[in-house]
Amino acid sequence: MSHTPVMLNEVLNGLNLTKDSIVVDLTLGRGGHSKEILKRIPNGHLYAFDQDEEAIKESKKILSEVASNFTLIHDNFITLNDYLAFYIVKGVDAILIDLGVSSPQFDKPDRGFSYRFDGPLDMRMDQKGNHLTAEIIVNTYSYENLVSIFREYGEHKFAHRIARKIIDAREVKPLTRTLELVDVIKSALPMKELKKVGHPAKTIFQALRIEVNDELNALKDVLVESLKALNKDGRLAVITFHSLEDRITKHTFSEVSAINRGRRVPMRLPAHEDKPPYELVNRRVIIAKEEEIINNPRAKSAKLRIIKRNGGKDER
Ligand SMILES: C[S@@+](CC[C@H](N)C(=O)[O-])C[C@H]1O[C@@H](n2cnc3c(N)ncnc32)[C@H](O)[C@@H]1O
Repeated sequence: MSHTPVMLNEVLNGLNLTKDSIVVDLTLGRGGHSKEILKRIPNGHLYAFDQDEEAIKESKKILSEVASNFTLIHDNFITLNDYLAFYIVKGVDAILIDLGVSSPQFDKPDRGFSYRFDGPLDMRMDQKGNHLTAEIIVNTYSYENLVSIFREYGEHKFAHRIARKIIDAREVKPLTRTLELVDVIKSALPMKELKKVGHPAKTIFQALRIEVNDELNALKDVLVESLKALNKDGRLAVITFHSLEDRITKHTFSEVSAINRGRRVPMRLPAHEDKPPYELVNRRVIIAKEEEIINNPRAKSAKLRIIKRNGGKDER
């Protein structure tokens, strides 16, 4: 199973790579971006993270076909700076974060990410370290907690009705399969809602996935860690797939690139008096071209933002 990298050319150009660049791909997936990055940094080095063991195993083969100057790290990307310290890497020239689920994760029914195939209600990206599954959430969280997840992470208008139906269903029998949950979700929605374009379970599955993998907190943390890790002129590119991720990225980038920084710089990042420590590379968000969306519908919801570091590490 492969994964088509999204906005590949835009990412490669945006990262401003040289032959010697030290690069971190924080979301390796199936190495779609990493493979092309490696071809451009023959004298540099690539460090690539994924919390999914299968992604690390499969990408190792893919990347070995083109280069050997890479190190794969099977861990959550929020540990970035611990690993950089461990490998004695003082600073990084380019970092990529391509969020969300990879096609192989989504298309394998036994991972439980898809509302299209029957599978266990799992949804863990890290099946070894993470013990929270979608099954635990739907069968043990209170009505109020379910409503708040569906509202906050799924931005769902019918969060209350869906949570109520889940509570009713699990009193009869615990929910264990993805398609069982899809039926419960559908039974909570009015006909008008069911007729809308897009799968009726999509945003509820998104909400559960975000909760299982603590995705939004991880994103907030990794943005700060990435900004800290950059060398002077180093670049960070982030591809998001829904408005919650994009909002967090946009907000963090505008805070650290604001003229009036000082107090508004997020905790744990340096506040500068004279010029902002970071600068937006693209003022407007970058989206995929029509041709790419035709060939890879996943690219439709993708948004790319790039930021660059102004001050060097010694200016912290
Ligand atoms: C959209 S895919 C990346 C695809 C990749 N760019 C490619 O072209 O093949 C996202 C990957 O990031 C991984 N991931 C998501 N959150 C992570 C986290 N907190 N730590 C480490 N890996 C993470 C997922 O397991 C998944 O494999």
